[in-house]
Amino acid sequence: MAASRVCILGGSGFVGTHLVSQLSSRGVVCRIFTRHPHRVRNLAVNLAAELVTGELFDSQSLANHFSDCDAVINLIGILNEDGKDQTFRRFHVDLVDLIVDACNRAGIARLLHMSALHADEARGSSLYLRSKGEGENRAHTHGGASIAVTSFRPSVIFGPGDSFFNRFASLLKFSPLVFPLACPDARFAPIYVGDVAEAFVRALDDRHTYGKHYDLCGPDIYSLKELVEYTARTFGYRRLVVGLGDLPSRLQAQILGRLPGRPFSMDNYFSLQTDSICEKNGFAALGIEPRSIASMVPRALGNEGYRNRFDRYRKLV
Ligand SMILES: NC(=O)c1ccc[n+]([C@@H]2O[C@H](COP(=O)([O-])OP(=O)(O)OC[C@H]3O[C@@H](n4cnc5c(N)ncnc54)[C@H](OP(=O)(O)O)[C@@H]3O)[C@@H](O)[C@H]2O)c1
Repeated sequence: MAASRVCILGGSGFVGTHLVSQLSSRGVVCRIFTRHPHRVRNLAVNLAAELVTGELFDSQSLANHFSDCDAVINLIGILNEDGKDQTFRRFHVDLVDLIVDACNRAGIARLLHMSALHADEARGSSLYLRSKGEGENRAHTHGGASIAVTSFRPSVIFGPGDSFFNRFASLLKFSPLVFPLACPDARFAPIYVGDVAEAFVRALDDRHTYGKHYDLCGPDIYSLKELVEYTARTFGYRRLVVGLGDLPSRLQAQILGRLPGRPFSMDNYFSLQTDSICEKNGFAALGIEPRSIASMVPRALGNEGYRNRFDRYRKLV
């Protein structure tokens, strides 16, 4: 039977917003579990979604919100630890155990889980990738016979509201003429957020995806330097992007990792030691042809003048 109501953890975020939009347009009722229902009220109204809140790290609280749903989607993830209780282990591993437990309590038989490309419990190059790998394994193994789990492992995701182009656009905006870039040769296959959302939508009711992991990549591979130069050109910032060698890259991570919000940390540096590109792109198995940056970013920006481009790209959903 097709899912008619799903509970989405992280449904208010970048990927979540696009996913809720696609599911809602296909008649699926989305229940967004959020810490800040007042902040995302407009979103819920626009997308005809339900908002619920509660204790994230309490499986009974989660189960109460899951109870009349057909499936659960977990999109919650963090890019950095905060030195307090926001740790990779807590968000990427312990939370998955709680979600699986809550699914079992509520009789949920379907779970879609967001991981990351090259997440690997044993060999991931960063704590982020190792914890994502461990959480993904737990979802599949602990979900066991009672829950059909599908996980997705994307490269970097772009689109209106993303934290990739937007982050570099704001850094470029406030930088002097020369922009020093750590790990310039790290490679990515950026994916359009609408394609990632489509992968979740297609998998939701498809039994062939049960128990599977899907690596997701865009059609083109770029170095980080190429992407930052593209960002500067697209948003109209005249900057010379200078790639740093390994030692200055580490030094930059040490310094920026101590600033509020940690714009770039040592763990991010370690993640960038693994190229974020696919050996086998899972989009093919899902029947999706991923779209390119060149076809989507200019469309998102429309014909606005350069000055307005950043704001327009940032806000558009
Ligand atoms: N974006 C990418 O390029 C990319 C690439 C690979 C994998 N991923 C994975 O995809 C998933 C979604 O990514 P995204 O970019 O959409 O993330 P996002 O915009 O940061 O959204 C994630 C949501 O998780 C919740 N959340 C975040 N930090 C939290 C915290 N400390 N405590 C409780 N809830 C918290 C927030 O919901 P509320 O504020 O409403 O509570 C937020 O809306 C993540 O698992 C991420 O690791 C993303």
